[in-house]
Amino acid sequence: MAFDFAPLLTAGLPPPAPRWTGFAKYNFSGGHNDADQVPVDRLIAAATAVLQREGMTLATYGLESGPLGYLPLRAFLVEKLRQHAGIACTADEILIVSGSLQAIDLVNGLLLAPGDTVLIEQESYGGALTRLSRRGVNMVGVPLDREGLRMDALAAALSDLERRGIRPKYIYTIPTVQNPTGTIMGEGRRLELLRLAQHHGVPIFEDECYSDLIWDGRRPPALYAMSKSSGVIHIGSFSKSIAPALRVGYIVAPWDILSRMLALKTDAGSGALEQMVLGEFCREQFARHVPALVRGLRAKLETLMEALAEQFGTAAEFDDPKGGIFLWVKLPDVVDTQKLAQAALASGIALNPGPEWATDKAYGRSRMRLCFANPSHAAIRQGVAALAEVCRREFGVPARIANVERRAVS
Ligand SMILES: Cc1ncc(COP(=O)(O)O)c(C=O)c1O
Repeated sequence: MAFDFAPLLTAGLPPPAPRWTGFAKYNFSGGHNDADQVPVDRLIAAATAVLQREGMTLATYGLESGPLGYLPLRAFLVEKLRQHAGIACTADEILIVSGSLQAIDLVNGLLLAPGDTVLIEQESYGGALTRLSRRGVNMVGVPLDREGLRMDALAAALSDLERRGIRPKYIYTIPTVQNPTGTIMGEGRRLELLRLAQHHGVPIFEDECYSDLIWDGRRPPALYAMSKSSGVIHIGSFSKSIAPALRVGYIVAPWDILSRMLALKTDAGSGALEQMVLGEFCREQFARHVPALVRGLRAKLETLMEALAEQFGTAAEFDDPKGGIFLWVKLPDVVDTQKLAQAALASGIALNPGPEWATDKAYGRSRMRLCFANPSHAAIRQGVAALAEVCRREFGVPARIANVERRAVS
């Protein structure tokens, strides 16, 4: 008989992970990248060069760079963050982590206990939301508009909490290509956010997962760069600019707070090979690779928006995002996207239902997030057409598909 672990399990574990059964034929879920845009040949060249030159350093934990991560990669980041985000930091203020998910875990581990309160964009990254609820943290959702987090709503939420004697642990924001809405917060609003945060004594947790993927390449400086009080923790990732399977992200923070997170990072260092390959690749190739990737992603977004307009007509409402890999779509109120996602999956279409990407589940009910990076142009067209069929069958919308009137369902 199989050994029974059940009575030995610790309390408070998350539910078991489902078994992986492969990707859906039309995969609009998750944050996967475009397979054709992974720079495989140049990664091979980088891996060969760096291993020939420095392979023997794999003999020691942390290579010869110490526990913060491979130094040439951190040196690349110092320069990239300066040029791209206006951040002035040293390599000793950057911690390389195993994907920015680990960064989120470290920041949360440092600051959060059950019963704490955080402010978070009303539509936000599902991975951040699940982590907060697992820690028993109260989330105060702040609405967004086309320029990101709304400052009037944030000011009201902060004042309300203050009146109730609650000091939030942080304001989590994705200001530069927000997930899932694709907005970019303007510079004036960033200044106001910093002012409000400082006034209320609340740190800002700035997540820049998608800031490399902006259609016109223009962006305001990072909050981290604009802050005068060092009350910002900044995180980023190579998942969206190069490849998510590498699992390489980073935290930028002043040493007094970074050193506390380093002490919480108990894995004796993130995988060295991927850091070495990235360090080698990025120095020469990052600036060339990203614009080509962004052009390809924009073309896929065009295909998706066209396909939605053709198949759903006015039933699918969305704003053209400023960059990234997602389209956040509002369907008619009658559509429950959690039910839609289940029915769609049975037809080989994967998507993320809105409630998983929103603090207010009712608000997210008829919204969905579609990732356009991974499916091919043809798969985007076919997948959206198949989704429209499923949606019409389940909810009676769209009533017209590809301009052909369908009989309303009874
Ligand atoms: C806003 C945001 N932050 C962090 C992550 C985590 O990414 P990774 O761990 O691959 O760096 C994601 C992934 O989709 C994300 O959307």
